[in-house]
Amino acid sequence: MSAPRPAILIARAVFPEIVEQLREHFEVEHNPDDVIYSKAELTQRLQGKAGAFTTGGDRVDGEVLAANPQLRIVANMAVGYNNFDIAAFNAAGVWATNTPDVLTESTADFGFALMMAAARRMAESEHFLRRGEWKKWAYDMFAGGDVHGSTLGILGMGRIGQAIAKRGHHGFGMKVVYHNRSRLPAETEAAVGATWVDKATLLAQADHLVLVLPYTPENHHCIAAAEIAQMKPTATLTNIARGGIVDDAALAEALRAGRIAAAGLDVFEGEPALNPALLTVPNVVLTPHIASATVATRRAMAQLAADNLIAVLGRGAAPLTPINAGPFTPRA
Ligand code: DGY
Repeated sequence: MSAPRPAILIARAVFPEIVEQLREHFEVEHNPDDVIYSKAELTQRLQGKAGAFTTGGDRVDGEVLAANPQLRIVANMAVGYNNFDIAAFNAAGVWATNTPDVLTESTADFGFALMMAAARRMAESEHFLRRGEWKKWAYDMFAGGDVHGSTLGILGMGRIGQAIAKRGHHGFGMKVVYHNRSRLPAETEAAVGATWVDKATLLAQADHLVLVLPYTPENHHCIAAAEIAQMKPTATLTNIARGGIVDDAALAEALRAGRIAAAGLDVFEGEPALNPALLTVPNVVLTPHIASATVATRRAMAQLAADNLIAVLGRGAAPLTPINAGPFTPRA
C-alpha cells in the first residue's frame, strides 16, 4: 500500500490550474470562495496539513505553528513576508518561502507608472474630466513636474529598487540616488546608474521618491511628518512597499497643505481599509495593492509557491526560494 499523500491548505483562491496541479501531489483543501480566514480559523484549518499556500494577508506566527506540529512548509505567494514571524518559523523548524524574482520587472513597471501618474497628475485630471469640469484649455491646467531628467530617489535597493533605477537612469535620463542599509557593489551601482546617499540627502535631493523597502518594526513610519518636511515642495512620494512604512495620516496632511506636490500609493496602513483623509485629498493616486498584478506575473508567483510545496513535500528536497535564515533544522 502506498503512503498517504500529504495534505495541504490553499488559504486563498488561486488559479484553478495551480489547484489542479497541487491535487496531483497532495490532498488539497482550498478556498475557492476566497474567504478571509481569521487567525483562529486558519489555525484550525491547518490541522493535519503538512503544507500551506498563503498570501501576504495571512498571518502565520509562533502560535499558529505550535498548534500545528505536523506543518512543514508555508509557501507565501508574495515576495514580502512581513505576515510571517520568521524567528518562530526557524525555532519550529518550518520552511517559509516567498516568490522573489518572478515579480521584479512587473512591480518595477508599476512603481514607475505610479510615480509618473503622481508627477503628471493623471488621476486628479481624470477625475476633473469625469466630473464634466473640462470647459477649456488653460496654460497651467494640471501642470505637474517633469520625470525625465529629474532626480529619482529610491529608499530600499533590492531587486525591485534596482529595476526601477534602471528604468529611470537608462530610459528617462534621471539622476538616481538611493539609500539602503547596505551599499550595492560598485559594479551594480554602475549597471543601474545609481549613487548611494544618506537618508537626509535622499529626502532633500529627490524630485521623485519611491519606497521599495521591506516592512520591519524598525521601518515603521520611517516616512512621517519630519521626513516629509525634508522633501522638496515640488517632490512626489510613491509607496509600493508596504503599508506602515509611511505615516498615512501625516502624508494626507502634507498633501493637503501642499508640503509636497503629490503621492502615489499602492499600499496602506491597515489595508484594505485606508485612512479616510487620503480619499479627500486630490493630489494622490490610489491603487489597491496591485503592483505585481499582471496575469503572467501572478501566474508565475502562484507557480513558484506551488513548486516550493512540491519540492519539500513531494520530493523531500529543500524549497526553491526559502526565506529561513539562521540555525534551522526542518521538521521531519
Ligand atoms: C508582494 O509580493 O510582496 C506583493 O506586495 C504582493 O503581496
